Amino acid sequence: MTREEALESIKANVETENLIRHMLATEAIMRTLARRLGEDEEEWGLTGLLHDIDVELTEGDMKTHSKLGADLARELGASEAMVHAILCHNETHGVPPETNLDKALFCVDPLTGLITAAALVRPDKKLAGLEAKSVKKRFKEKGFAAGANRQHIAKCSEIGIELDEFIELGVAAMQGIAADLGL
Ligand SMILES: [Fe+2]
Repeated sequence: MTREEALESIKANVETENLIRHMLATEAIMRTLARRLGEDEEEWGLTGLLHDIDVELTEGDMKTHSKLGADLARELGASEAMVHAILCHNETHGVPPETNLDKALFCVDPLTGLITAAALVRPDKKLAGLEAKSVKKRFKEKGFAAGANRQHIAKCSEIGIELDEFIELGVAAMQGIAADLGL
């Protein structure tokens, strides 16, 4: 599967601009992490890009979300490692993240929301001037972007990345595609 084919399928299945942006942000951080860890950048990036492809199709039903996404990814030619990561990023199924790819997607997914929220409360609402240290502060504020699950983000330690570095990598990765994210 090429990135273009993955994007085409996303555009066929997702209308909400912010959801597409969330998937692009997840892709960017997954690529950066893969480079950092010496993993397969294309495999990790495309897993991040595709992981929420079924969100509109499943209409908020957590029992089918990510099962359908895993099937769609498989049809597109994703590897079984990618399919497994997509399936288990939704805890509802009780399939625990096992591989580094599974664990990476699990902790990157909520990090995108925290970084986006931290950019949006800046006066210019832009990622460009956002410093990692302010995201680290926001991480500790429970009421800030409460939907960005802090326990899930902190699981970056399970792939050998400390929280501070994880946030730094995430901010830099998203800044690299700020225009695509509208931020
Ligand atoms: Fe997601």
